[in-house]
Parts: sequence; structure tokens; C-alpha cells
Amino acid sequence: MVARAVGKPLPHDSAHLHVSGRAAYTDDLPEPRDLLHLAIGMSTAAHAKLLDMDLSGVLAAEGVVGVCTADDIPGENNYGSIVKDDPLFADGLVQYIGQPLFAAAATSVDAARKAVSEACVGYEELEAIIDPITAVEKESFVLPSETLVRGDPDGALAGAPHRLGGRVSLGGQDQFYLEGHIAMAIPQEDGGILVYSSTQHPDEVQSIVAHATRREAKDIVVICRRMGGAFGGKESQAALIGCIAALAADKTGRPCKLRLDRDDDMIMTGKRHDFVIDYDVGFDDDGRILGLDFEFASRCGMSADLSGPVNDRAMFHCDNAYFLENVRILSHRCKTNTVSSTAFRGFGGPQGMFAIEYVIDDIARALDKDPLAVRRQNFYGEDERNVTHYQQVIEDNIVDELFDQLLVSSDYEGRRAEIREFNAASKVLKRGIAITPVKFGISFTSTLLNQAGALVHVYKDGTVQLNHGGTEMGQGLYIKVAQVVADELGINIEHVRTTAADTSKVPNASATAASSGSDMNGKAAQKAAAKIRKRITAFAARHYGVSEAEIDFRDDTALIADRIVDFPELVQLAWANRVSLSATGYYRTPKINYDRTTFSGRPFYYFAYGAAVTEVIVDTLTGENRVLRADILHDCGDSLNPAVDLGQVEGGYVQGVGWLTTEELWWDDRGALGTHAPSTYKIPTCSDLAPDFRVELLQNMANREKTIYRSKAVGEPPLMLGLSAFFAIRDAIAGDSASRLHAPATPESILLTLRDAPHE
Ligand code: MTE
Ligand code: MOS
Repeated sequence: MVARAVGKPLPHDSAHLHVSGRAAYTDDLPEPRDLLHLAIGMSTAAHAKLLDMDLSGVLAAEGVVGVCTADDIPGENNYGSIVKDDPLFADGLVQYIGQPLFAAAATSVDAARKAVSEACVGYEELEAIIDPITAVEKESFVLPSETLVRGDPDGALAGAPHRLGGRVSLGGQDQFYLEGHIAMAIPQEDGGILVYSSTQHPDEVQSIVAHATRREAKDIVVICRRMGGAFGGKESQAALIGCIAALAADKTGRPCKLRLDRDDDMIMTGKRHDFVIDYDVGFDDDGRILGLDFEFASRCGMSADLSGPVNDRAMFHCDNAYFLENVRILSHRCKTNTVSSTAFRGFGGPQGMFAIEYVIDDIARALDKDPLAVRRQNFYGEDERNVTHYQQVIEDNIVDELFDQLLVSSDYEGRRAEIREFNAASKVLKRGIAITPVKFGISFTSTLLNQAGALVHVYKDGTVQLNHGGTEMGQGLYIKVAQVVADELGINIEHVRTTAADTSKVPNASATAASSGSDMNGKAAQKAAAKIRKRITAFAARHYGVSEAEIDFRDDTALIADRIVDFPELVQLAWANRVSLSATGYYRTPKINYDRTTFSGRPFYYFAYGAAVTEVIVDTLTGENRVLRADILHDCGDSLNPAVDLGQVEGGYVQGVGWLTTEELWWDDRGALGTHAPSTYKIPTCSDLAPDFRVELLQNMANREKTIYRSKAVGEPPLMLGLSAFFAIRDAIAGDSASRLHAPATPESILLTLRDAPHE
């Protein structure tokens, strides 16, 4: 069959709705009669016994209909999905500033928000651990530390001609989705609850709401048409919001909506883990790494949440694109009295990759080489030096080719020489340039999550409703899967409508995460559509007396031997002859297997690659800096939709640059997050875009694995292209190889570095 929609740069299916304000997000849904609005009372202590909580003032406040506390939870007071250490409402103990204590339900948003400040809460303060270094000292961990060793790192380090080490800190990041957390729960007849939730994982919201309200999964329906961005922040965290709405709805018998205010959202819900990275590296004269010892300590916050798999991914990705023959990685998952850290685009991968890129950069500066040369020295080979430290054989390495192409198209060498000249003549302003690679493993590392389902209906008029377990957060999943289904049935994509993610249509779906949304849901939907096509084909063969091989579908028609029948007409005929026109599809990712106890196997089906060259300019008197130009070459395999993929690459890069240059999370000594609004937390804006921004998708490079139309996942990998901006800044200010530039490279961080290592 000729592909018609797949591979085309079609606009996002909701683009016309996004730009005209007609795309309905959860808060835009018509509000049911009797709706109550919720607000959360939050802990003001980082670690304390809860002595008493007097909510009489809250209850007496105008408009308040009721309150909900831990005592009102009929079932489990927990929303932790892996480890059950995440209370919905604090019960006796508070563990971070911002932790929910209770919810107030009132007739308006303002009334609810005003009422919560009337609570009188007594605390007996306990010692609070805020930062990961102290946590390591005190052995305060949410999960046991993990070690992965390959080869003989100690021997290799001892015998290496050169050796250096150090410590670098790497900040976290708030997801800063434009739509904050929100859920609306509506009681249904006979004990059912319907929850509209802005969630990447409706299935998890369903099961956690069921547990908390003492119901069964069958009693709960969770629906999400779209999110206004998620970036990992709505993977596990949405369950908290959905559950509180459901508990309040259950208690009051009325529909309840909880929409977090931006500041509360930033204070109450999790973000990217910040890391402290210690390293000890041994290398030869060419900069080839002989032995490496990493110690990672990440701030996990007060509970485990997704910290296990996030830190595992950091361990997996601390090779980035480099062969580490003798390596030890020790990973601490630190328990701190701060909000529980969670998923964020890249899921620990970016932190691991930052670590190795920092080491490479250090080696280059110690040897007075271009970091590019050191990168190339250490790249994985194609037929040798091609086994990762977790024993996966890399079968699709294209990083050398990517570099070759990008070095030419970006004129790296020419510009580098020109920048050196500029810097020699410029006292205050310094320019810098860096090229960094990305190799990112695709699949959930937890093998069981790599499964997906879809439900396809063909109606009598030949049009299609498509549903799958994936959620839409702006990344373009719905259009991509619709393209696949349109082509499978040979119909115009206009005849395919994707309906909201809904736990009553496709059950037990994994989170839309790990960039695997289109890989998995695309395949599942294709299988569902193929079943229906097969049934119609079999019917048509019987009906027209031809062989099945003589039947094909394209351009809204069926070609049946020498006959052409309109697709709707054939569908109508099939229906009249009692052919089922609805089917489910199911997919599980092949080839993967992985043993968590030994950290070995094949956790990833394949790798997605990319590379970026970033040029920056830094004012060495103020530390201010700008990206001047970015050149990106990214691998999407045979792209399902190059327009959507290009958007993902651009957006991912900009988000990565924001993480490493302007976005700074800052907690005070008491554990209060100081940066909880855009006034103090600086995400990139349009004016921060590189004035010269050149983004290309790698052409003619089909995925070597049999993914959907040989495409590759693109959601997360481009974020790590942003590493090049950090190393370009380091390049601009590097006078002294030992200089420590910590991330994010804010003006302050840059100035501190310059002061420690005075140059000129
Ligand atoms: N793009 C937009 N516009 N909004 C988002 O929230 N989330 C990212 C990425 N791209 C996100 C996004 C993250 S964290 C992931 S895991 C993937 O999209 C999830 O979608 P996919 O698997 O369909 O790529
Ligand atoms: Mo993405 S961090 O896997 O939701």
C-alpha cells in the first residue's frame, strides 16, 4: 500500500483550535451544576510532627461547603505508584514545605483559596535535610544506592597517564507546562466517579482514585482530551490532583474541581532531580577515557515517586555516545525534605549525559585540545567498542555520520577559528562554541510498561473514530497515530477523528512517556485498523468473487480487481452483510529484556541520535549571555510527520538550553522554594531564541528496527541537544582548565566561575 498521510508534514490536528482559543482543556469544559472549587492547605514546615489542625476557621469562611483531610480518606492515603510513600494528605507528619494538609471545598475558586488561610496548624519541628550532600552524609535515602561496574575501573585509573577529578552541581528544572495541574471529578450513579484529569497517565489516576475512595477500577473513568503541556510533570503527579478532586466529590456528593494556582503548582508538585556529580577519570594523551568513576547524588525529595527509574536512566545514559570500558557508577537517591522530584523530559538521561560531557570537556581543557577531538576519540565504534556498560550491543550507531554532516553544514572549524580571533581582540565580550552528541535509549526501562492498546471504529459512512492509550500534551501524538490509521485504511485523514484518552475505551495503558507514544500507540492502532481492513477485504473477496490479493485500499476507495468502489459504499455494504467494523489492537515492544538486579540486558529497543552546535556570547563583566546561533541535526528515522518532529526538536533544544542557562530552582535553609513563579524562575522566551537557528532532520536514515514506518521516537532526545549551549559558555570563559562552571550557567554562576579562575 502506498503511504499517503504518513511522512507528510501535516499540521497538528488541533493547531486551528490552539491558535483560535477553541481547544478545550480541562478547565474549559462546561461546569456542571453545583460544582465546588477546591483549594489546598499546605504545610509551612519542611519536617515536623503535625500536632493539631484546627479547621474551624476554614469551615466558617464564606462559601465553604466542606473540608477534606487524611481522616476523610476511606481507602489508601497514598498516590505513590511504585513505593507507597506518598500521602495524599499529610497524616501526623509533614515532610516538605508545600505538602497538602487538607482541601477546602467552596462555591468559588476565590472563596476556597481565601478559606485555606484560616487554618490553624501546630507543628513540632524536626531536623530537616534539604540538600543531597547532607543527605549522603546522613545516609538519608528514598531507595538503596545502586552501583554498576564494568571492567576494572580502579586498575584503569591507577594505570592511566593522566587523571583528573572533581565535583560539579547540576540544577533541577520545573516543567512549567502552560496549563497547571487540574482535575474535575463528577460523581456518577451508583457510586461511580468520572474524573477529567490533565494527566499523562489516566490509567494510574484511575487505579489510585479507586484505591483512595475504596472503589474498584470498574467504578472509575478517567478522561483527558489534551494537556497544555506536561513534560513529565503530569506522569505521576496528576494522581494527587485527581485523587483530591475525587475524594472531595465523594465526600460532598457534588462535582469538584481542583485547579492549582501557578505558585502552588510549583511548590507542591515535583520537578527534575538536581544532581551533585563527583568524578575521577583516567585518560591517555589523545584524551581517550581509560577508567572512570562516577558518584551521583540526586535530590529525590521526600518520597521515592519515580526516582528509582529516573536515577537508573541517569546511570544508563552517563555514557551518552561514548565507550566506557572501565567504569563504576554509584548512584545515591537522596531523601530530602523537599517536594518529591519526578519525571522531566529525558527522565534522568540528561543528568547522566551532562556528567560525561563535563568529563570530556575537562579532559579536552587539560590536554589543550578541541573538545570535539576528545569526543571523537571516545565515540562508540560500529563493529567494535560497541557494547554499553549495561551490556547492550549498539546496532544502530550513526553518531560519526551525524557529526560529519553537522560539522560541515555548521562550518564548525571555520567559525571556531574566527571565534578564537574575536576573543583575542575582545576584552570583555567572549564568544564560545561547542558541538555535543545525543544518543538516547528508547523504551521504558521497566519492560512491562512497553505495551499499548488501541480501539478503532469504522462507522457506516466510512469515517473512523480512533482511540488509543496515549495522551496528547502538545507533542503531536494524535496526528501521528491518525496518519497511520488513515494509511492503513487508505482513507483521507480528514475522515479520522481521535477521541480523548479514556480509561473506559482502552484499559491498562502505560503513561505517555519515555518518548514511546507514537512507537507503541502507532503500532497498536495500525493493528486494530488492519483487522478491520482484513475483514472488509475478506467480505469484498466473497461478495465480488475475486481473490483477496486483488483488493487494495487507497484514496478513499477500494480497488477490487478492475472495479473501484468508494470506501463508504463498501463499508455500508459490509455492515449490511454483518461484518464487524470495530477492533482493538495491541502491541508490545519486541527484543527488549533487562535484569534490574544486575543492570544488564537490552533495556532499549533502539537509540535515537542527534547533534547540535551552539555558539554563544558572554559578557564577562556581568555574566550575561546569549545564544547567537544553533545548528541541529536530529535523527527521527523515517519521520511520521516532519513538521511535528521539527517542532519537537526545536522545542526540546530550547527547553534544554533553559535548563542549563536560566532556569534556577533555589531553596532556602528552611526548605522553602524561593523560585515559584516566573518572576524568579526564568524560562526561555521567544526573544531568547537563537537569532540564527538552523534545524534539520537527518534524511534517508530509516530506523534499523521495525518500528512504525521505521520512524524514531522524538519527544525527549532533543532536550539534550541543549547541552551544547552550556559547553559553549564554558568554552567562552575557559581560561583555566580547572574552572568549575556549575549548571545552570546563570550570570551569577558564570561570574563566580570567573572569580575563582581569574582570566586576563
Ligand atoms: N511536547 C510538548 N509540546 N509538550 C509536552 O508536554 N512532553 C515531552 C515530549 N514532548 C511534551 C512534549 C515528554 S517528557 C515526552 S516523554 C514525550 O513528549 C511524550 O510523548 P511521545 O511519547 O508521544 O513523544
Ligand atoms: Mo517524559 S519525562 O517520559 O514524560
